Amino acid sequence: MSQVQIHDDPASAGAAVAAEIAELIRARAAEGRTAALGLATGATPASVYQELRRLHREQGLSFAGVQSFNLDEYWPIDPAHPESFQRSMREQLIDAIDLPPAAFHIPDGLTPGAALPAACAAYERAILDAGGLDLQLLGVGLNGHIGFNEPGALAGSRTRLVELAESTRSRAAVAFGDDEVPRRGLTMGIGTILEARRLRVLAFGAQKAGIVARALASAPTPALPASLLGGHPDLVWVLDRAAAARIHSGSV
Ligand code: F6R
Repeated sequence: MSQVQIHDDPASAGAAVAAEIAELIRARAAEGRTAALGLATGATPASVYQELRRLHREQGLSFAGVQSFNLDEYWPIDPAHPESFQRSMREQLIDAIDLPPAAFHIPDGLTPGAALPAACAAYERAILDAGGLDLQLLGVGLNGHIGFNEPGALAGSRTRLVELAESTRSRAAVAFGDDEVPRRGLTMGIGTILEARRLRVLAFGAQKAGIVARALASAPTPALPASLLGGHPDLVWVLDRAAAARIHSGSV
């Protein structure tokens, strides 16, 4: 059963999720174990990362024993490109905390085509070697995508190269400016994501209200990848009031 948490605004939602992550990191550190975090990029998790930076700076929250694994990356893309997810992740969080460089994992947008199957398998293995993901942060696309798992993705899918939906590419086009948005991406699969022990799906703003309501009301179907998360035993949708506005309204 999915739980739904409704907050006043993205800042308070982000603070609540960051507090949960901080507690998880401290609990793992007290046990002498690694905390493995699944991270997302995009606009939605910004308030979580802002609060994690603050907790590190002001309260000494240490990421020294953490391993992080990002969901996805464009392919091909140079990590130095302003729109690469690697660059965004470094700017939003990694460069401001004490995560060891080797503990930051993200699919490499410059992996040669022939090396992709081995690289994707190695990504899955690295997650398992870290003990599996304790918590995966997720956003949701307007078409219901999760990571770069676009409509049609299967519940058992693993880390792989995928085609991006045209709507996903056209939403990114403004930010890419004169550069063409890559046609493909590397993403954890829905099956990879479902193995995380906790899933926290964040959605903010009125434009997400329709897809949130549809995902919550729908039976699991590849046509709506977010609906495939529904059977997870520890899934929480973390929303602001605007994104929650159409749940149960019958007007999804
Ligand atoms: C990003 C990702 C995507 C985004 C989704 C929502 O790593 O995996 O699935 O979470 O496209 O993007 P925003 O948050 O920009 O609305």
